Amino acid sequence: MFAGNAPASTVRFELDSAPLDSAGGVEVANPEPSQDVAKRHFDVNQIAPLGSHWREIYELQRELKWFWTTYAKGHWVLLEPVAIREAFQSPEIFSSVSEVAAEPDPSYTWIPTNVDPPEHVKYRQILNSWFAPKAVDALTPSAASWCETLVERIRPQGRCEFMSEFASLYPAGVFLASLGLPASDLGKMVNWVRTIFDNLRHPDLAHKLSAAMGEVRGYFSTAIAEREEAPLDPALDFISHLLRSEVDGRLLSVDEILNMCVVLVMAGVETTTGQLGYMFHHLAANPDDRHRLIAQPELIPRAVEEFLRAHPIVLPGRKVTRDVEFHGCPMRKGDMVMLPIPAVNRSNETVSQPDEVVLDRPELNRHIAFGLGAHRCLGIHLARRELATALRTWHEVIPDYSVDEAETLVERGGLLGLVRLPLVWS
Ligand code: HEM
Repeated sequence: MFAGNAPASTVRFELDSAPLDSAGGVEVANPEPSQDVAKRHFDVNQIAPLGSHWREIYELQRELKWFWTTYAKGHWVLLEPVAIREAFQSPEIFSSVSEVAAEPDPSYTWIPTNVDPPEHVKYRQILNSWFAPKAVDALTPSAASWCETLVERIRPQGRCEFMSEFASLYPAGVFLASLGLPASDLGKMVNWVRTIFDNLRHPDLAHKLSAAMGEVRGYFSTAIAEREEAPLDPALDFISHLLRSEVDGRLLSVDEILNMCVVLVMAGVETTTGQLGYMFHHLAANPDDRHRLIAQPELIPRAVEEFLRAHPIVLPGRKVTRDVEFHGCPMRKGDMVMLPIPAVNRSNETVSQPDEVVLDRPELNRHIAFGLGAHRCLGIHLARRELATALRTWHEVIPDYSVDEAETLVERGGLLGLVRLPLVWS
């Protein structure tokens, strides 16, 4: 049994019942800029060999400070760390009304992701307390126990496909527990997340994506209706907390609650899955680092920061609110811009030897894996704790393992993440 809590200590997470098998105001995208500007075809949505998305960004960065990609409807890509950091912190120019660079006019308004300041903070205040360090502390014992159960379950196999057998199940279970949702919904949640991210940004597969999104929305609609009928303790149940929360002196609408819940599914599971994949790939391929973490577990928090820096997986977008020349780039109102986090985290303006994982970096590690500014990750404390807990727990049970060399490893683009990671141990 996995006794979880969110944020206090009485929510029950029954592992036995968890099935394991299973703003801008601008309407249209602007045309390609007519000026003589650098243009490239930069498509981040490709499945490509492990590490190639970071390499491509690095190569572009050596040549350019910014460029226009002709991919999809076209958008700018900033490459200078100083410009990217500034853009994240200038919401009056860079609106989050769309935060997918290739999608200028989304049909949804997720909360808080697509809401700009000053409105944004009203919603963040409601959400922040739920994901604050204290709430994460309370959740940690049950997260560790869930992690241990999963690892114990796969240990006798002598091998596993890490992404599907661990990296997607563990964060999904913690996610459900953090919101006070039943563990028996694990299989559904994992399948929805997988379907959404496998089909993200593939126009010909959009129907699969929208079907899964519809089911996620339906799942939360039902949960909201149930809580309206029979409210649960708002200190333990996230939806009941939202049903009692106010903005501008009025209760949140059901639509607002749905838009918050859906974005949490989109942001709160696959991100940690992706990060786990790169982290365990590194440790499987670099036994010295693995042995060091096992011998010196006090290094784990710093190591987690270094993994987050070295393995940036998010490529956020913004929509330009007015004509502006930004660090020399001639942007027009309505243009989309990508702010690639790898261009900051893996730049030698941020750290020395940016391509290397140095578990105990002596210098300040000013990475922005969780973004910067108003929209900085809501789940920052939870994600860090999940990663640290996985490092501790996994290595207590399976200290020695390696990558099964029989398979060529590839990563998905968009939200970066290994497609498969076969690990073996004896
Ligand atoms: C290692 C795992 C994670 C990474 C690397 C990550 C990264 C990020 C980044 C870069 C952003 C900013 C996006 C932007 O500026 O457009 C963000 C926002 C967000 N993240 Fe995370 N995240 C992780 C885990 C989580 C978890 C576990 C949750 C929730 C349970 C979460 C919830 C959110 C939400 C709701 C936002 C939107 C915040 C806002 O718009 O105010 N994330 N995340």
